[in-house]
Amino acid sequence: MRLLVIYDTVYGSTERIAQAVAEELEAAGHEVSCRRQSLSGEEDFLGVGVWVIGSPTHWGRAPFRFKTLLKNAVKEAGADHAFVAFDTRYDGMHAGAADRTHRMLVNAGLRPLLPPASFIVEGKELRAGEEARARALGQAIAASLR
Ligand SMILES: Cc1cc2nc3c(=O)[nH]c(=O)nc-3n(C[C@H](O)[C@H](O)[C@H](O)COP(=O)(O)O)c2cc1C
Repeated sequence: MRLLVIYDTVYGSTERIAQAVAEELEAAGHEVSCRRQSLSGEEDFLGVGVWVIGSPTHWGRAPFRFKTLLKNAVKEAGADHAFVAFDTRYDGMHAGAADRTHRMLVNAGLRPLLPPASFIVEGKELRAGEEARARALGQAIAASLR
């Protein structure tokens, strides 16, 4: 199956999670395009059944530029897609970008494969063990597609 892993990042942690998820999906035999928001457009979403969306949490939500890209993508590509949303955030935050993205896409009619997932950063670095959790997320997405 073709999947899009699309992410935003400032310091690189969300990118590392996205790449680990993408590697696991590829290892499971899927055709994966892993794209950074700043280098992407709505066209990347077209004709791809499953979107894996990763965002840093800025002020409790995804950066505005990323939310705009997602909204335009739904407008262009339609709601007949499955998705998984994940974010990176500080420890102890009860809600983050993934929760809001998840809700927005469900409200738009897209089908979630899994609940929103979060990965913890400490300062500007991923907490130890989060990359392994990202690999587990990639495997769980692959399992949900079997
Ligand atoms: C402007 C700004 C606002 C932030 N606001 C939040 C926040 O509301 N909640 C939170 O958990 N982390 C917050 N953070 C921390 C980010 O979640 C963290 O920098 C991000 O996960 C790192 O991902 P990246 O390395 O991919 O940029 C904020 C960071 C920045 C730069």
